Amino acid sequence: MVKHFLDIADFTSAQLKSMIVDAKAIKANPDDFDQVLKGKKIAMIFEKPSTRTRISFEVGIIELGGTPIVLNSKDMQIGHGETIADTAKVLSRFVDAIMIRANSHEMVLELAKNATIPVINALTDRSHPCQIMADILCYEEHRGTLEGKNIAWFGDGNNVTASWIEAAPKFGFNLTIVSPEELDPNAEILQKAIADGGNITIERDPRKAAKNADCIVTDCWVSMGDKDAENRHNLLAPYQVNQEVMKLAKPDSIFMHCLPAHRNEEVTPEVIDGPQSVVFDEAENRLHAQKAILKYLFD
Ligand code: CP
Ligand code: NVA
Repeated sequence: MVKHFLDIADFTSAQLKSMIVDAKAIKANPDDFDQVLKGKKIAMIFEKPSTRTRISFEVGIIELGGTPIVLNSKDMQIGHGETIADTAKVLSRFVDAIMIRANSHEMVLELAKNATIPVINALTDRSHPCQIMADILCYEEHRGTLEGKNIAWFGDGNNVTASWIEAAPKFGFNLTIVSPEELDPNAEILQKAIADGGNITIERDPRKAAKNADCIVTDCWVSMGDKDAENRHNLLAPYQVNQEVMKLAKPDSIFMHCLPAHRNEEVTPEVIDGPQSVVFDEAENRLHAQKAILKYLFD
């Protein structure tokens, strides 16, 4: 049975927590893990731009002893009509795993279905599971266990929100999502996570969402591939994370953002560059969390 890393919901709580334990060990002693991918070649396919994902995976694969092969889908036949299934079968003959950042989640599922090697979701229109593993590592490093903590998601109910939603029942935190109704998160993902025991609330009032939060997290208002930028700016303006919002949260609350950020849109400079912000630790943790994911896939 080929192991994939496609979505947080595909894993048990114990499996995910074990990956976080591994990520901490890898971060503390990276040299102890430099043979994990010895002799392995990993294809990294990008249909969308990336800074953190590209560099953290490439560096992580090298540090684990493997070889990354970075590919832009436009330069591959997949960008010129070759089927996803054929691409999966061909890549499976050459490399040991595929990391892909894709426009369509369905495309990644199709790739995984036809590959005989592990496939990693490095962001789709539906989810961003690697990001959330880094975010969990980051929160725990700063404030200890997530169990019972209040996480408030501000703004667009997007792909990153979806992975936070899936993580809520797995890690036992309370998640409040404050968004305009038009940009609510994926209803199917939300219902499934609630059915799995997630304590997840949709809120419309930013003040109520911020109250007693241990962590406030947001993301850009216009994700890659979104076409309705002006409408989104209008809808999301009331959900900006600023000093007034942070003052309502617990005094020791932290601010997180997967980056890239747009200052004075979803967050003010005072917050993202202020003392409660952990965004650069969060970005660094992409490296350590993804190494743990790769270790899991090849264990
Ligand atoms: N957070 C994140 O995935 O960043 P990149 O788009 O730079 O990879
Ligand atoms: N929601 C954003 C995340 C970027 C890392 C996007 O999909 O563009």
